Amino acid sequence: MLDIDTQGLWIFGYGSLIWKPNFPFIQKKPAILTGWVRRFYQASPDHRGTKVCPGRVVTLLPDPTEKCYGMAYQIANTHREKVLNYLDIREQKGYSLLTEQIVLLGVGSVPALVYIAATDNPHYIGPESPKDIAAQITKCTGPSGSNLEYFLQLRTALQKFSPSEKHLDDIFQHLHQ
Ligand code: SIN
Repeated sequence: MLDIDTQGLWIFGYGSLIWKPNFPFIQKKPAILTGWVRRFYQASPDHRGTKVCPGRVVTLLPDPTEKCYGMAYQIANTHREKVLNYLDIREQKGYSLLTEQIVLLGVGSVPALVYIAATDNPHYIGPESPKDIAAQITKCTGPSGSNLEYFLQLRTALQKFSPSEKHLDDIFQHLHQ
């Protein structure tokens, strides 16, 4: 039995949506998506980089042994259309929308929408070394700001409710070398 009102639409964010939702919501809750892992394997030629210097942003890869911590947002029915239109534009470069079951920490399970950049999208880069990802993050900036800001804001936000993540820690080490 869920002890809060979980009605309506939930959106699960695992990247910039964690620290910069920019849309109206009723409440937000830290949440876990099981069976997916966060990776900086997606190029950003439009937000955190340019065509010439594409930044690196996160996507999720399916992995039954992993789970991803993120932030879930409950959207009022009256804002549903406006929020989805906004996110469809914001996440347009390669991200598609899935519905996945998530666990709101301390609350229970709900279905949520998740924007995932699948491996067959044109901006998917795939695995690179933490050193190479860090080098790209350090040098790229796009219309939404620097790629470094994206990385650091994400890491700082996650540290408030999630265990540390090796992939992010490895990249972080190389930012300072
Ligand atoms: C997300 O935050 O859920 C999607 C990826 C991003 O916009 O950084």
